Amino acid sequence: MTSSPLRPLIVLGTRPEAIKMAPLIRECLDRPSEFAPLICSTGQHREMLAQVLGYFQITPDIDLDLMRPGQTLTGLTADCLLAIDKTILEHRPDCLVVQGDTATVMSSAIVAFYHRLPIVHLEAGLRTGDLMAPWPEEFNRRVAGIVANLHCAPTVGAADALRREGVPEPNIRVTGNTVIDALLWTAERERAATNQWTSLYPFAAEGSMVLITGHRRENFGSGLENMCLALADLAVAFPETAFVYPVHLNPQVKGPVHQRLGHLPNMHLVPPADYPGFVWLMDRSQVILTDSGGVQEEAPSLGKPVLVTREKTERPEAVEAGLAELVGTDRERIVARVTHWLQQTDSADAGSQRSGTRAPSLSSPYGDGQAAGRIADWMLEAIQPTAR
Ligand code: UD1
Ligand code: UDP
Repeated sequence: MTSSPLRPLIVLGTRPEAIKMAPLIRECLDRPSEFAPLICSTGQHREMLAQVLGYFQITPDIDLDLMRPGQTLTGLTADCLLAIDKTILEHRPDCLVVQGDTATVMSSAIVAFYHRLPIVHLEAGLRTGDLMAPWPEEFNRRVAGIVANLHCAPTVGAADALRREGVPEPNIRVTGNTVIDALLWTAERERAATNQWTSLYPFAAEGSMVLITGHRRENFGSGLENMCLALADLAVAFPETAFVYPVHLNPQVKGPVHQRLGHLPNMHLVPPADYPGFVWLMDRSQVILTDSGGVQEEAPSLGKPVLVTREKTERPEAVEAGLAELVGTDRERIVARVTHWLQQTDSADAGSQRSGTRAPSLSSPYGDGQAAGRIADWMLEAIQPTAR
C-alpha cells in the first residue's frame, strides 16, 4: 500500500524566514510523491517578503496579510494566533514547519501545540541566554523550542544548547542552516549577473565599500543613534569609500537613519535590496557592519569580516572562528574597528572583488548547503501522514 504524501503547513512571515525556508519549500515541491506542502505567509512583512518570494518563485497557498504599518508586538502576535488557528482548522495539515525566532514562529508554534500537531523547528537551539538580547527573539525561539518535536539544529553548539534544556536526543539533529543552501544556490545562479547590480548600485561598482544593515529592537533609540554618529564620523574620515546602507522599512529605523545620515555624499541610503543584489553587495564589500542574524551567517561564506553591532550573539561560531567581531553600539569602538578593517584591505584586494559574485566557501560554520534535504528526509522518517 502506498502512503499519501505528507502535508506540512509551512509558515513564514518575514524576509529572513522566506530566504531560509525557500530551500525546504523547493525540496518539498521537487518531491511531489512524498510531500504536498501548504505554504502559508502570515504577511508579517509585506514588500520585503514579496522581494524574496518573487526571487525564489514561491507563491503562498495562503496569505494572511497581517502586516500593519508600525505594528506592535502584541497586536501582531494576537492577529497571528487567531489567523493561524483558523488556517489549521480549515486545512488540517499533518505538521507545522517554522524557521527561526520571529513573532510568526512563536505564534504558529503555540497554536500548533494547542492542536497537538507535530512541530518542525528549523534553526533550533540558538541562544544568548539573555531574554533581552535579542529582544524579543530569544523568547520567541525558546517558546518554539519548548513545543517543537523535530529540532533542526544548524550547529553542534545549538544542539548542545537544546540538550542542556532537556530536549530528548532523538528529537535533535544537526542539519546545518538552510541559509547556506540559499546562498550557494543564489551565488551560482547570479555569478554572471554583475552588470545588473553595477547599474543599480553604480556607487558600489568599484573601490572601497562598507555595507551596513540594522534593525534590532534592542538597538532602537540610543544604540541606533550612536551607530549613525559613528557612520557619519567614518563617512567624513573616508571620503573615497562608499558606505552602502539598504535601510530596513521599519519606521523606527528608517526615520532616524535618514535624518542622521541622509546629507552625507558618500553615504548611500537605499531601499531594502533584492536578495541576489544583497549577496552581490556583500561580496563587493570590504567590511560589513550589521546587527542581522542572517548576515552574520552569510558573510563568513563570502570571506567578509562582519562587525556585529550587538553585545551578545546567539551565533557565536563565526566570532570563535575569528570571522566576526562583536562591536556593540559604542561610537568610538565602531569607528575604530571599521577603520581597522578598511586599512587592512588594500585597494588591490578591493579591485579583485569587482568581478561579481564569487563562489562562496563550502567551509562555513553554519552549513554545507545540504540542510534542506536532511530536514525533508527526517520529516518523512518521523512524521506519519494522517489518513484522510
Ligand atoms: C521582524 C522580526 C525580527 C526579524 C526581522 C527581519 C519579530 C518580533 N521581529 O522585525 O525578528 O529579525 O523581522 O527583518 O518578529 N515594514 C514594512 N514593510 C515590510 C516589512 C516591515 O513597511 O516589508 C515595516 C512596517 O511598518 C512594520 C514594521 O516595519 O509594522 C515592523 O515590522 P515587524 O515585522 O513587526 O518587525 P521587524 O523589525 O521587521
Ligand atoms: N537581506 C536582503 N536585503 C537587504 C538586507 C538583507 O535580502 O537589504 C537578506 C540577507 O542576505 C539575509 C536576510 O536578509 O539573508 C537577513 O534579514 P534581516 O537582517 O532582516 O533579519 P535577521 O536575519 O536579523 O532576522
